[in-house]
Amino acid sequence: MARCFVTHDLPGPALGRLRAVHEVDLWTEPLPPTPDQLAERAADAEGLLSMLVDRIDDALLDRCPKLRAIANYAVGYDNIDLAATRARGILVGNTPDVLTDATADLTFALILAIARRLGDAAASVKDGEWGTWEPDNYLGYDVHGATLGIIGLGRIGHAVARRAAGFDMTVIHAGRDPAGLDDLLARADFVSVHCPLTPETRHLIDADALFKMRPTAMLINTARGPIVDQDALREALVDGTIAGAALDVTDPEPLPPDDPLMSAPNLIVVPHIGSATHQAREGMATLAVENLLAALDGKPMPHEVV
Ligand code: DGY
Repeated sequence: MARCFVTHDLPGPALGRLRAVHEVDLWTEPLPPTPDQLAERAADAEGLLSMLVDRIDDALLDRCPKLRAIANYAVGYDNIDLAATRARGILVGNTPDVLTDATADLTFALILAIARRLGDAAASVKDGEWGTWEPDNYLGYDVHGATLGIIGLGRIGHAVARRAAGFDMTVIHAGRDPAGLDDLLARADFVSVHCPLTPETRHLIDADALFKMRPTAMLINTARGPIVDQDALREALVDGTIAGAALDVTDPEPLPPDDPLMSAPNLIVVPHIGSATHQAREGMATLAVENLLAALDGKPMPHEVV
């Protein structure tokens, strides 16, 4: 029996499977542990089940000498310093596939919501501003038949592309070639970000990139907040360089309501809910627990980050 620290309760029955075999210490506070609290609680743990908000780096690992396995409850693992885990022989696992469709669904919801101004239009009814039907009330842009530019054609990017086919959209994508990205930015009506956050993709969408987009184009980000330079995005929305943006992810998270970005026009921000369906989140719990069970049993993780 190994000691495991779990930094948040999980939906569904998966955690019970871990408890049946190992000693589970569960963080139950409403907010995540601070780096200090994490280090204290994981100090003698062999397994760690972490959330994407938990920073795992040298400073933490130095204080957790018994750690053998980390199961991150996310497909993304930019919160984990892999050089630091590898140097200590700690296995790291993630939760791919089970959230692909939920995240692609949310991406499409955001495309439709920002294109058709759903946020403003729904708020106007609540606010008693629905005077009469008017020819030019809440005019948006067609989604069907438009060109969708996908940055990062991995599992989620492909799933978004499949949905776009149902809307008769032309799908273009950019590989690692900067010329490909420039072409995408110049042609797309909707630019949707699906690449991982790495040193190379941090601020990939900066003022230059936004300037290359069409003035009627809209940016959607369901990947990681720091891929977009938010100051540049705010300016681009304020001065009309682009027509709108819909973000599921921000930098920082949570984004304070008084962040300057929030005063920009034609903007929708939701609180990192790409995978937030019962099915996806329970599937992620199953994979995270299976990763931890396998590693603590000396077996390869089913979804090891390599
Ligand atoms: C992930 O798993 O990386 C997602 O961002 C969670 O929704």
